[in-house]
Amino acid sequence: MESNWAHVEMAPPDPIIGVTEAWRADPDPRKLNLGVGAYRTEEGKPLVLACVREAEAQLMADPNSNHEYLPIAGNAEFCRLARTLALGGDCPALQGGRVATVQALSGTGALRVGAEFLAAHLPSTAPRVVYLPSPTWGNHKTIFAKAGFQVREYRYFDAATRGLAFDGMCADLASAPRGAVLLLHACAHNPTGVDPSPQQWARILALAQEKALLPFFDSAYQGFASGDLDADAASLRLFVRSGLELVLAQSFAKNMGLYGERAGALSVVCKCKDTAGRVESQLKMVIRPMYSNPPMHGAAIAAKVLGDARLREMWRVELKGMAERIISMRRALYDALYERNVPGDWSFVLKQIGMFSYTGLSRVQCQKLVNKWHIHLTLDGRISMAGLSAQKAPYLADAIADVVANPQ
Ligand SMILES: Cc1ncc(COP(=O)(O)O)c(C=O)c1O
Repeated sequence: MESNWAHVEMAPPDPIIGVTEAWRADPDPRKLNLGVGAYRTEEGKPLVLACVREAEAQLMADPNSNHEYLPIAGNAEFCRLARTLALGGDCPALQGGRVATVQALSGTGALRVGAEFLAAHLPSTAPRVVYLPSPTWGNHKTIFAKAGFQVREYRYFDAATRGLAFDGMCADLASAPRGAVLLLHACAHNPTGVDPSPQQWARILALAQEKALLPFFDSAYQGFASGDLDADAASLRLFVRSGLELVLAQSFAKNMGLYGERAGALSVVCKCKDTAGRVESQLKMVIRPMYSNPPMHGAAIAAKVLGDARLREMWRVELKGMAERIISMRRALYDALYERNVPGDWSFVLKQIGMFSYTGLSRVQCQKLVNKWHIHLTLDGRISMAGLSAQKAPYLADAIADVVANPQ
């Protein structure tokens, strides 16, 4: 009998995860993986933070620990600490008890549960339309489309300046239908590394208010962008303080290095405490048939680090160290390009923020970096600064100089 799946077609490889697979298979000793969205040490190795190791050791040593199920909404202490980290201890919405929070399967899971909740519970008069920056993290489109949203884009990256297309962004938001969902990267925009200035954030807030847009903040890099947890939450806090209702997806993958532990949280900021209680009950209704309840370990680690003054201070210092190494890689690459007189204005390498730099290199140039130079990256020209080292920066600059001089 023929297989029920004989007709199933091979799905295309994931554009980001495929880069690491290609890098692994590349036998050349000079190879470099600049596709990876994870922090690497100067030696190119994954990093387990000392505060995380210590929190883990404490958890292991606890004779009362067990493997019982968590509640549907997850670890309540973790949820409380996570949202306070994002919104700030003095946040009026937190003090008013009007934030509903559930633990989530890292940032992706928070986005998916949030999108499903909105699709089911936005007012019937609101359009099921989401506005995403162009470009954005590839998974955003699929997550919202799977939840039943019509996906539209707003202009974000200006290829000419390699900065923000602010006028285009404002024009697109001004023409959005009332009540549409507006996805915003809280900081360290992925893939471009371009963030609005404080003045521009204020204008975006005003537009969201005028058009009654529902902000959905994706915070995957708090503390990882500037090294300062509060500075990286400024955009989100500005919006919350304005009194708007909004949604927040948080990930501890990058800033605590808990990638595979899937530690994240979803918060919905509501107008009043009573609404927050009802919203939380409906978030649980989304989660229960999806995966019942979240995993324990990552959230327990994050709760220990956030809740213990000494571990939290260790984390702050280690997080700053990661952010600073990335910033120093920007300088190393910029200097190496400058020394080689590579044509063009490369100052964007210094100005862009967070893990990635969006180089503006063409697909053909990127393919050449992969095939000739064994430098693996996504073909949209995004490079992970976290994958670079001081030792490898000159090699990357040689390669970029070559593909800029010979673009075909
Ligand atoms: C902008 C953005 N949002 C969300 C995520 C989700 O990451 P995770 O599900 O690993 O927390 C990422 C990861 O790269 C990201 O860059």
